[in-house]
Amino acid sequence: MKQSTPAGATGERPAPATADAGGRYLEVDDLSVSYRTAGGEIPAVRGVSFGLEPGRKLGVAGESGCGKSTVALALLRLLPRSARTSGSVLLDGEDVLAMRWGRLRAVRWSGASIVFQGAMHALNPVQRVGGQIAEPLLVHGRADPAQARGQAAELLEQVGLPAWRARSYPHELSGGQRQRAMIAMALACRPQLIVADEPTTALDVMIQAQILRLIDELVAGLDISMLMISHDLSVLAETCDRLAVMYAGRIVEEGPAEEVFAAARHPYGAALSAAFPRVGDPASRRAPRGLPGDPPDPAELPSGCAFHPRCPEAQERCSRVDPLLWPAGADRSAACVRVLTPEQERAAGVPPADEGGGADRGHTAEPDPDGAAPAQARPHPQEWS
Ligand SMILES: Nc1ncnc2c1ncn2[C@@H]1O[C@H](COP(=O)(O)OP(=O)(O)OP(=O)(O)O)[C@@H](O)[C@H]1O
Ligand code: SF4
Ligand SMILES: [Mg+2]
Repeated sequence: MKQSTPAGATGERPAPATADAGGRYLEVDDLSVSYRTAGGEIPAVRGVSFGLEPGRKLGVAGESGCGKSTVALALLRLLPRSARTSGSVLLDGEDVLAMRWGRLRAVRWSGASIVFQGAMHALNPVQRVGGQIAEPLLVHGRADPAQARGQAAELLEQVGLPAWRARSYPHELSGGQRQRAMIAMALACRPQLIVADEPTTALDVMIQAQILRLIDELVAGLDISMLMISHDLSVLAETCDRLAVMYAGRIVEEGPAEEVFAAARHPYGAALSAAFPRVGDPASRRAPRGLPGDPPDPAELPSGCAFHPRCPEAQERCSRVDPLLWPAGADRSAACVRVLTPEQERAAGVPPADEGGGADRGHTAEPDPDGAAPAQARPHPQEWS
């Protein structure tokens, strides 16, 4: 398997990310997405912010329906017409949400590409795999038809498939092979960012491990940034530099991947970690071990902290306060009242734990040792309901 040079690279790779002021290739700020439906507006993503430096990998985890795919699709403006989006998504300093259509087309595949959840549905069933991999090269003028065919064959080899598979139709490939073909397609125009949405869901554990290793090698070898989505924290902890845990449309915990996985500061992050090791077990996606109930319906979110009806650490005040991300140790943050010091609580106007006779069932999260200001209070003033 070749790794050092991407096959679709006879043209120049786009100039290295100049990135924004923070050195990040991707900068998402206060992203919110709601879907208009017959039953009303569904707030699927609520004020999500994160960034990604060139060559780094961010994992996004959370139960089914928490908004992971909606975030992924919003990054490249691939959401359906029923979606209403606000906030900003800066790709190399340019706001994707404000781009003209022509510019957006140029950025898709060449600036950032996406490996979709479930390759069978993402690939065109009536077009040969090689043609589908060659298509972005042709659309973006990176190659003439003969060159594109050659590069598609090289890309297939790069992801561990024989070149002759270019002549296969998707139904002639196994699930793992299709996922490899999707990855080849995503690499074709040498993007600087790949968004991988559950790239190994529905694959058996052995194939899943192979695909993850492949992604790891390719991303490292090509210095691509990656946003990888999974409901499985253990997979992300192994693959990514940083982890963001989502719940009910929000990021509720963020930090270095191994630290979040080993010692989550948010009770929901802790429950997800406790579901390990269950790689490939679809049940873990629905109910992390030890966590009662189901995720809330986004159209009917509980008051206060959306996690409070299921939270083993909930206090009485949790139904009245809606915490955003606060510093929770060095380079970490969590959206939980338990990471606040009494001084921070007072500064933010959060009712103290014993106010209103609330039942405190024990304190597991350490307060932020630096006593810093709330993470999202700086760009986005903290809101308390
Ligand atoms: N096109 C749509 N129209 C209306 N609601 C939608 C649409 N797509 C997603 N939703 C809703 O938005 C919420 C977030 O969905 P999303 O697909 O982003 O979740 P997810 O975290 O990717 O879940 P999964 O792990 O099952 O893939 C869900 O409540 C879902 O029902
Ligand atoms: S704010 Fe309260 S309910 Fe929410 S995660 Fe923290 S302890 Fe649990
Ligand atoms: Mg999804």
